[in-house]
Amino acid sequence: MSQKFLQAEMDNSSIIDEAKWSWRNAVSMGLIDEDDTSVLFQSWDRLKLYTQHLIDSFSHPNALHAVAIKTQPHPKVLERIVDWGLGLEAASMEEVKKALNAGVSPDKIVFDSPVKTKKEILYCHEKVKGIRLNVNSIEELNRIPENPNFQVGIRINPQVETGAPEVYDVSNDESKFGVPISEKDIIINAIIKYPVTLLHIHSGSQMANLDSAVNAICLLRDIALEANHRLQSDGSSRRIQTLDIGGGLVPEKLILGQTSKMQEYASSLRLRCPELWEFELITEFGQWNYFYTGYAISKIEYSILKGTKYITYIHIGADFLLRDAYVKPRGISFKVLDSNANPKTTKKVVHDIAGPLCFAGDYLAKNIELPVAEESDLLLLTGTGSNSYGLWSRHCSRSIPSFFGVDFKNKELDKLSSRVNLFAEI
Ligand SMILES: Cc1ncc(COP(=O)(O)O)c(C=O)c1O
Repeated sequence: MSQKFLQAEMDNSSIIDEAKWSWRNAVSMGLIDEDDTSVLFQSWDRLKLYTQHLIDSFSHPNALHAVAIKTQPHPKVLERIVDWGLGLEAASMEEVKKALNAGVSPDKIVFDSPVKTKKEILYCHEKVKGIRLNVNSIEELNRIPENPNFQVGIRINPQVETGAPEVYDVSNDESKFGVPISEKDIIINAIIKYPVTLLHIHSGSQMANLDSAVNAICLLRDIALEANHRLQSDGSSRRIQTLDIGGGLVPEKLILGQTSKMQEYASSLRLRCPELWEFELITEFGQWNYFYTGYAISKIEYSILKGTKYITYIHIGADFLLRDAYVKPRGISFKVLDSNANPKTTKKVVHDIAGPLCFAGDYLAKNIELPVAEESDLLLLTGTGSNSYGLWSRHCSRSIPSFFGVDFKNKELDKLSSRVNLFAEI
């Protein structure tokens, strides 16, 4: 599938066509029933486009693009990512095991949990040989075996202002993540003393300020070069070989003929930090890879008219889109479809979109203009591919919806998992 074709597919009308096709086929194949009040979709074409665009933007001869598992942990999605040759970033031991189950080789797993137990580190040493393990503090280095069977990295807090929203900002002075870069001497002494060959930063999520993100990577490079110089002077053959630059880019629509933010980021790094192409590179993008690759359809249970606006009640809310309901809407789009999944074109009026939870904050949007959404219509939500399925909340104990994989180009639809209530047995 050519990149050009895929990019041409990215315009908004095509995702509506895709969603329409997906819903109708799921219904006609008998893959969803009355209880499927909402359904989630993963577009393979779009995910392939984003991950390939990431690889092409860096064009690095020795790169491991480890996609963050927490962003979309569905086992079948992880298997696809692994099939395409990418790696996986794990934020917990459970995610390390998920990565192994998806069939990835240990050297393509990056283990970044800030709270690893001694037992987990030993497990990696004995059973996951070759994994990359980033410590969160100098203290954690004392837990590393003398001759580890894995690559050891130190996470550094670059202490830069990335413009990430406060809850996703991990680079402030108070951050619980990483060793502050202001403690450079301590970091370099630790590199000399412990078997460290990797340096890691993840400056924040939804970083608005790419310049600072680039600055942070330049600082990481400076420490690596200085440490390597010290190691050489000390007669050691060990070197920092790998720079892990984390993730953190704001999701973007890829538009044919326009330079993407990802391309700008990589070009700026090439200019200001060309040495990055001499080290092994690891990236850990999550949200950027997934956001625009997922969509969801909910049945509209009903709408009520309150004053001049409609409150429309649907079957996914703050249980699925926690970040949007609890923090700030991330730009998810809404489209009213009729029961046959055709976009409604009637006159637009003001709506609030209310989720199903018994919680006053469970709104996905307020005061948006849509054709009147009525009982038996459907609501299409686009931009639900990241930090949504993976954050599913047990609040009000609702079931996780059925999940489908869609190859729209080849007109293939697979049910990847059925509606499930994970909390029923506890
Ligand atoms: C260590 C680490 N790497 C990568 C990511 C992925 O970040 P994003 O989804 O913003 O690209 C995160 C997100 O929390 C993270 O904590």
